Amino acid sequence: PSASGQSSFDRVIAGDGRIEPRDEMPDDYRKSLIRQISQHAHSEIIGMQPEGNWITRAPSLHRKAILMAKVQDEAGHGLYLYSAAETLGASREDMMQALLAGKARYSSIFNYPTPTWADIGAIGWLVDGAAICNQVPLCRASYGPYARAMIRICKEESFHQRQGFEILLTLSRGTPAQHELAQEAVNRWYAPSLMMFGPPDADSPNSAKSMAWKIKRFSNDELRQRFVDMLVPQAQALGLTLPDPDLRWNAERGHYDFGELDWSEFKAVLAGQGQCNVQRVEHRRRAHTEGAWVREAAMAHAAKKAARQQQ
Ligand code: ACO
Repeated sequence: PSASGQSSFDRVIAGDGRIEPRDEMPDDYRKSLIRQISQHAHSEIIGMQPEGNWITRAPSLHRKAILMAKVQDEAGHGLYLYSAAETLGASREDMMQALLAGKARYSSIFNYPTPTWADIGAIGWLVDGAAICNQVPLCRASYGPYARAMIRICKEESFHQRQGFEILLTLSRGTPAQHELAQEAVNRWYAPSLMMFGPPDADSPNSAKSMAWKIKRFSNDELRQRFVDMLVPQAQALGLTLPDPDLRWNAERGHYDFGELDWSEFKAVLAGQGQCNVQRVEHRRRAHTEGAWVREAAMAHAAKKAARQQQ
């Protein structure tokens, strides 16, 4: 930006204001936002798959209707977020191609499988719970279109979390076999959901700048702690156990202590070696190819409409 552009950017950030698409902004700020927002959008789109896996097998019509609505919400979140990235000059075509080529990042959590119905409960409770913890502060992110998109997304995520909690509660209070199913799903999703917050602060290369720019308001470890503190009483209400022998209240800190996570697993998932990385990208590619006729039809319809308006 020009010198005056830079100083007005600095003033807005210092005063906790909002940067809007037409404002001048440093290149690094723009790039980092495109990075984070596009990764976030890809996460929503890939995130449809683990749950989509259970739409045909949901245990009742009621559960099926809820699950379909939830998966559609995720598609909507992805679309808002791609639009927010476009306001920064990113092209949707480039973002799509990066995802289809397997070059784009999306959240590690969506590379884990959903072998049982209880996994749908665990995703709602833990994955959407972690998403809310991480995303509520993003409603105050310094970039206007991103912050505004987050407000609606967070409202929908809260509903998602409650539906997951309710699935687990029903299973937990069901037969011993159902209770066991719920516990096993929580055992599978607990640690991966804690990893959604990103690497420990000391290994988080983007945090310092993102916090100075007020994109992030809290560090990865701060939000992870907040999440664990929130989960403990909820797990008690569910009658389920969090699978961490080191989890205990620390009166001095006023927080729960918890065990070290297996960061080698996190790194392997980011490097493409998670259980479902290959499957997720292949499925997205197939959906893109099979959906080509829909995009073509929409373009033809838009062209016809535009031609009619010109007459
Ligand atoms: N899964 C995949 N990649 C991750 C994860 C994760 N759980 N956590 C961190 N990373 C990546 C970062 O994207 C970054 O990669 P890059 O430098 O190649 O872009 C690298 O690991 C280092 O991490 P950080 O420096 O800590 O990155 P950052 O400051 O961006 O923090 C975070 C990561 C917390 C995920 C942040 O980007 C964020 O808040 N994003 C918005 C929320 C989001 O994307 N949620 C998606 C899941 S929720 C849902 O979709 C329902």
